Amino acid sequence: MEILRSIVVLVHIIGFAILFGSWLAEAVARRIRVTRLMTVGMTVAAIAGLALAAPWGIDYQLDYVKLGVKLVVLLVIAALLGIGSARQRRLGSLSPVIFWLIGILTLLNAGIAVIWH
Ligand code: HEM
Repeated sequence: MEILRSIVVLVHIIGFAILFGSWLAEAVARRIRVTRLMTVGMTVAAIAGLALAAPWGIDYQLDYVKLGVKLVVLLVIAALLGIGSARQRRLGSLSPVIFWLIGILTLLNAGIAVIWH
C-alpha cells in the first residue's frame, strides 16, 4: 500500500510538472494562451490528488483544511482553463490576467503542498 501511495504521489507530481511546464513554456515564449497539455496536467494532478486525499497507506493524520484549500485552488485553475480556452477559441486571444493566474495558482498549490505543515 505504501509503495502504491508513493506511485500515486509520483503521478500527482508528474501532473503538476506537465501543467506548470506547459504553462512556463508559453510564458517564456511570450505566448499568452492556454494549451491542451495544461488541461491534461491539471486533470492528472486532480485525479491523483483526490486519490491521495483519502487516508490509505499512511500512519499519520491528513490535514483536511490544507487539502480543502488545495481543492478550491485546483477548481479555480480548472475554471480558468475552461473559460480561457473557450474565450481563446471565440476571440482568438486570451486575457493576460487569466494566463498569469493559472501559473501563479499552480505554483501556489505546489507551495501549499510543500510548505504548509
Ligand atoms: C494544480 C493543483 C495541484 C498541484 C500543483 C499540487 C502539487 C503537489 C505537489 C508538488 C506535491 C508534492 C509535495 C509533497 O509531497 O509534500 C503534492 C502533494 C500532495 N497533494 Fe497536491 N497538488 C495539487 C492539487 C491537489 C489536490 C486537489 C489534492 C486533494 C484534494 C491534493 C492532495 C495532495 C496530497 C494528499 C499530497 C501529499 C502526498 C503524500 O505525502 O502522501 N493535491 N501536491
